[in-house]
Amino acid sequence: MNAPAPSAAAPSSASYYQRHIFFCLNQRTNGQACCADYGAQAAFDHCKARVKALGLAGPGKVRVNKAGCLDRCAAGPVAVVYPEAVWYSFVDLADIDEIVESHLKNGVVVQRLLTPPHLGR
Ligand code: FES
Repeated sequence: MNAPAPSAAAPSSASYYQRHIFFCLNQRTNGQACCADYGAQAAFDHCKARVKALGLAGPGKVRVNKAGCLDRCAAGPVAVVYPEAVWYSFVDLADIDEIVESHLKNGVVVQRLLTPPHLGR
């Protein structure tokens, strides 16, 4: 998973985006824990802004998307990057900067932010 990213290329039918990151923005009102209670919206907004500012956004490059509950609430807030299917649990905006710079831009997984594999809902 530490292989360098292929350079941004024109979209193909196989993969319209080089990488796609989904942030759980789920907000619960029943008192159960949810990613929205831990800064998920701010992280999403920050990621989207950074990806755009770095010129990484668009077809053949990176797409930042909202998601509902990804069913890994116990590890939240979470985001997942495809096509590598790498799950991250982040704490602050510096973590998002690292995911953008290392993984989304350069294809290098941020090991220290990986969601523990046993954590689900
Ligand atoms: S509330 Fe975010 S993964 Fe379930």
